[in-house]
Amino acid sequence: RIPLLIDTDPGVDDALALLMAFNDPRHEVVGLTIAAGNVGLQHTVRNALKLREVAGQLQVPVFAGCDRPLVHAPREDAAHVHGRDGFGDVGYPDPAGQAEDEHAALAILRLSHEHAGRLVLVALGPLTNLALALRLDPTLPQRVARLVVMGGAVSAHGNITPVAEFNVGFDPEAAHVVLSGFPKYDLADWEATLAHGFHHREVEKWLAADSPRARFYDAISRQTRLWSEDRRGDHWHSADALAMAWALEPDGALETAERPVAVETEGRLTRGLTAVDWNRQTGAPDNARILLRYDQARFDARVRAALAAG
Ligand code: BDR
Ligand code: CA
Repeated sequence: RIPLLIDTDPGVDDALALLMAFNDPRHEVVGLTIAAGNVGLQHTVRNALKLREVAGQLQVPVFAGCDRPLVHAPREDAAHVHGRDGFGDVGYPDPAGQAEDEHAALAILRLSHEHAGRLVLVALGPLTNLALALRLDPTLPQRVARLVVMGGAVSAHGNITPVAEFNVGFDPEAAHVVLSGFPKYDLADWEATLAHGFHHREVEKWLAADSPRARFYDAISRQTRLWSEDRRGDHWHSADALAMAWALEPDGALETAERPVAVETEGRLTRGLTAVDWNRQTGAPDNARILLRYDQARFDARVRAALAAG
C-alpha cells in the first residue's frame, strides 16, 4: 500500500479528509502530524485522537507539532466556522490514547526516511510543521513522492482576507518556505473548493448512513453546515476533502494547470496571497500543479463511502 502522511489541523473538513484516507484500501496512513490552525493545538491534537478512535484506527500515530505560526501571531483562528473546539462543540468524551512524544516536524523527517521515494504527503492545515521539517533538512523533498497541499487562492479570491486563503494566510512565512522549497507540488486551492460543492440535501442523506463514522460526522459538522448554508447557499464545501480526493485518486483530476506560484509575506493588503504567474512572466519554474476541475461524481462517491464505512 502507498504510505500516506497527513499534516492537519482538525477541523471539520480535515475530519472528512481523514475518514476518506482511512477508507482507501490502496493507501496506508502512516501518521497524523498536527498543527495549530483552525483552533489551538490542544484542540487539534485532541480532535485527531478522537477521529482516529471513531474510525477504528488506533494504530495510526498522532504527533503534536507547532502551536503557533513561525513568525507572526495570527490575526484569528477559524473557531467561528469549526466551533470553539474545532469539532462543532458537541462535547465528545475524551479520546482513547495520546499523542507520541516525538515532535511532528521530526516525525515527518523520520517517516520520509522510512518510506523514502514512496511517501505521499498531504498538507491540510497551515504549513508550519512542514516548514520546520524543511529547514531542519532541506533534502526532504527528494524523499517525498508527492506533496498535495490544500491552500491558497489562485485568482486571489481569499476566504480569510480579500486575497488570502486560511492555511496560507495563517502562516505565510511557513507557506513561503514550503511552496518555494518543494520543487514540485500539487495545489488544491480555495477556488477549486468552491467549484466542487455538495448539495446540502445530498450530504444529509449521506450522513443518515447507519455507521458510527456518519453519526459522529453528522454531529461535529452540524454547526458549520448551518453556518455555510446561511452564507453560501445550497452547496456545502469541504476544502480538505477535495485535496484528499485528489491525493488518493490522482486520475480524478480532469483539468490542471502548471504554473509558478509564490507566497506574498508582506503587503498591507496582500499578505498571504498566493501569486500565480499565469502568464509566465517571471521565468520562474512551474512549481505548482493547480487543480482546476475534479470528477465530481468520483468525489461524491468517495465521500459517501467514507461516511458509510465501519
Ligand atoms: C482551509 O482552512 C481551514 O479552515 C480548513 O480546514 C481548510 O484546510 C480552507 O481555507
Ligand atoms: Ca484544515
